[in-house]
Amino acid sequence: MPLSAIDAELVIVPWFDDDTASSFDGLDDATGGEIARALGSREFQAKPFDLFFGATDKSWRARRVALIGGGKRTESGTDSMRKLGIVGGLAARQRQIERVAFVPRGLGDPVELAQAAVEGLTLAEFSAGSYKTMDPVPASASSWTIATLAGGDDPRMQDAVARGRILGESSNLARELANEPGNTLTPREFAARAASIANAAGISVDILDERQIADLGMGLLLGVARGSSEPPRLMVFRYEPAGASAAPVLGLVGKGITFDTGGISIKPADGMERMKDDMAGGAAVACAMRAIALLRAPMRVIGDVPATENMPGGRAIKPGDILKSAEGKTVEVINTDAEGRLILGDGLWYARKLGATHLVDIATLTGACVVALGKITSGLFGTPSSFVERVQRVADRAGDRVWPMPLFDEYRDQLKSEIADFMNTGGRPAGSITAAMFLKEFTGGLPWAHIDIAGTAWAEEAKPYMPKGPTGVGVRTLATLAFEEFEV
Ligand code: BES
Ligand code: MN
Ligand code: ZN
Repeated sequence: MPLSAIDAELVIVPWFDDDTASSFDGLDDATGGEIARALGSREFQAKPFDLFFGATDKSWRARRVALIGGGKRTESGTDSMRKLGIVGGLAARQRQIERVAFVPRGLGDPVELAQAAVEGLTLAEFSAGSYKTMDPVPASASSWTIATLAGGDDPRMQDAVARGRILGESSNLARELANEPGNTLTPREFAARAASIANAAGISVDILDERQIADLGMGLLLGVARGSSEPPRLMVFRYEPAGASAAPVLGLVGKGITFDTGGISIKPADGMERMKDDMAGGAAVACAMRAIALLRAPMRVIGDVPATENMPGGRAIKPGDILKSAEGKTVEVINTDAEGRLILGDGLWYARKLGATHLVDIATLTGACVVALGKITSGLFGTPSSFVERVQRVADRAGDRVWPMPLFDEYRDQLKSEIADFMNTGGRPAGSITAAMFLKEFTGGLPWAHIDIAGTAWAEEAKPYMPKGPTGVGVRTLATLAFEEFEV
């Protein structure tokens, strides 16, 4: 279908540095030469995320066209297409435009470009849940269509659009959970909401209560939960597609601290409110399980999310206390604020017990990771390197930036304890690595990757393609991993 025949109010066209007014037959004419004029006067230079709106005449069915700057064509691809989709979607939403058509363009497979564009348009629909009673509710999302210039008759195209939709929606669901404050999203509420999200997609979910957690011997999870009057929960998600082979089984484990005060090793007041998102890894696992089921991944997948508050109550664990993990290993708690690794230790063990052959955990684990990689890139750790590299490739394609960090055995020395098998902290040097070394103790030698999202789960500054707030990082990576072929 020519662009002029698209039935929408607005057509959004990514525009690259080497595009000219005649790049699209009839488009410039339909705007009465406005595009040529804007390019000539350099009002619109196709710089990344610049917008140019033009009115179209009767030769076009859509009343308006928006060019959205895509920068250099040579740098275009799925990653920039996802971002352009977000920016285009947000621009349409801001202007309350109901029916939008988006035209994926750029280098790469047109089917993958379309999927990325749909992911972006869907991510633009995210509304941070609001408790405002005095302001009007934010504009609801527009409905949109994908108008393909190339690959429209490719049989994979419909699936790619559906896939982009599911991945974008699942990311948004994780963002909603991470945005919820600690007083509404208690461990029990988190478990109930995560279960209903996953259940609705056909995932079987068990929620273990404090007694069942105790029966499993999860002394690390129970230890962290002691300081709170809210009981802990352990969410267990199972995806077992008919006909899937017994192995591999992907095991996903997410940190579910619904609020992290630091416990007795309490955090400073400044910025502590941010610690409501310390369950972003757990939300990523729950929402990835949803996507995995809706996308009908071929592989068996188990997810588990230990959930608790980290509070300094009268029964809270104290520095120097020793906890016994479900695996049997003992831990000397040096700092109660290093609680994520404690609950994940029991979580990783449980994923193994349920039959996982490959482990991936995701957690807002260390401030040290934010120091090392900032807010752009998640830390990637694990073993063997062939497995870690595969996770990195998948994350790259999913639009979640990750970068590998070393796990040399010598780092383990920093965790040596006088009295227990090891300590839960290893001092300031290499803080994100020693945290990962701690987790490694609970992986039983299985292929394992750990993604530290302390810096990436929450956007502190708004970007054109990412508003302030929860990012949904990891959901698309974890979901896409279930389509890999792992050696067993
Ligand atoms: N949830 C925090 C990590 C964090 C910090 C996430 C900043 C997001 C932003 C974690 O539980 C924590 O407190 N880690 C400590 C570990 C230390 C006590 C060894 C940290 O990073 O300071
Ligand atoms: Mn902490
Ligand atoms: Zn924490």
